[in-house]
Amino acid sequence: MKKIKVLLPLFIAIVLLSSFFASSEDEPPDFTWLRSLYERPLNEWPKADVDAQVDYVEWAPLPAPPIWSDKDPQTQAKLQLGKRLFFDPRLSASKQISCSSCHDPDMHWADGRKRAIGESHRQGRRHSPSLQNIWSQKLLFWDGRAASLEAQAHSPIEDPNEMNTPMPVALAQINQIAGYRSYIRAAFGAEQLHAAQLEEALALFERSISSNITRFDNFLKGRYRALSDQQVWGLHLFRTKARCFNCHNGPFFQDGKFHNLGFSNYGKANADLGRYEVTGKKEDVGAFKTASLRDAARTFPWFHDGRFSDLSMLLNQYTAGMPQPKARGSMLTDSLYPAQSVLLKPLQINLAEREAIIRFLEALSTQPITVERPNLPN
Ligand code: HEC
Ligand code: HEC
Repeated sequence: MKKIKVLLPLFIAIVLLSSFFASSEDEPPDFTWLRSLYERPLNEWPKADVDAQVDYVEWAPLPAPPIWSDKDPQTQAKLQLGKRLFFDPRLSASKQISCSSCHDPDMHWADGRKRAIGESHRQGRRHSPSLQNIWSQKLLFWDGRAASLEAQAHSPIEDPNEMNTPMPVALAQINQIAGYRSYIRAAFGAEQLHAAQLEEALALFERSISSNITRFDNFLKGRYRALSDQQVWGLHLFRTKARCFNCHNGPFFQDGKFHNLGFSNYGKANADLGRYEVTGKKEDVGAFKTASLRDAARTFPWFHDGRFSDLSMLLNQYTAGMPQPKARGSMLTDSLYPAQSVLLKPLQINLAEREAIIRFLEALSTQPITVERPNLPN
């Protein structure tokens, strides 16, 4: 008892002292100076601090999907058909699962789950990505195994963990619905839908899915009150010593490349080797596509396996350089043992700076554009 009496005040004194020193270290920068750097047109901003080997694309206000300005009546007819197909569970054998089960417009076209749940509640091995701004991506899936939305579309229909339906069954179920005839005729001048047409219509609809304009976009357009001091600080750190801009660049905060952040579970039963499964190249073991950060503050959980659901925790991991257990024993001689991206490094950013980056991610995030679910043809 006596010991506690002595130790407790000592402990409190230490905590108080250390918090005093921590807070003086967490001193925010001079915001007037910081704002003067960024309250100007983008081309006059200080250059982002990236490693020499990185070729990057500068940020830009949210570009509209090109298909929005395509007024061709046949394109519009295909899009209307594609929209109905996207929301139609009759593309699955059980008639229970549609694309929108996992890419839900109310949830930024993702599903909020760690890993996707498809037919008969089977769990897939990866997290459902948002389809917002998907028109801008060259390679699809976390591992980039599809080179176009058309080539991608059959895969969820047939995947046993998703819609689990042979394409001929999916087509037959759609083609027997009388209410689809007029849509198919308007889009393709045909009575029956074929696989390539189904894929084209779905792909066209997906190209129309956009994220919404954010406070960040307004800031870029000169409405400088759109970002708080803390968010401008976060923006600055993101482009400088937090190193995020090395990979999260371009108008969608996504470089279109694949990087190994160290989360392949290599050697374990649940290993997912990512890009390597497509290319067979040693350097691609454990590499996944850079995720877009538009709306990221609202689309948890994060990463290809949904492993993070707390932004502070995610930022702490980046700050520590995504530490991994040291390679030992057979790992040292295993030629496929994954090597983490050289762009990851332990960061010198304190708690207040991490907070500022999170506030900046929030400025990139807003509510989704409302898309009404269509009435499905009968
Ligand atoms: C059971 C849930 C589920 C259903 C149903 C589903 N998806 Fe997905 N979708 C996923 C998952 C999980 C991934 C990521 C898979 C991967 O990377 O291996 C994905 C990836 C995608 C991608 C690539 C996105 C990117 O960022 O690269 C597109 C496009 C897509 N789905 C479209 C569709 C379409 C079209 C349908 C309906 C025909 C559909 N999905 C049905 C779960 C689903
Ligand atoms: C070496 C390249 C690289 C750097 C540097 C980098 N990221 Fe990432 N980021 C990625 C990749 C790749 C993914 C997807 C990883 C996965 O799914 O396994 C990702 C995913 C994310 C996600 C999750 C998005 C989602 O929808 O799942 C967030 C948030 C994020 N990064 C924020 C940051 C921040 C903040 C920084 C700077 C502190 C940063 N990143 C630095 C490559 C990078």
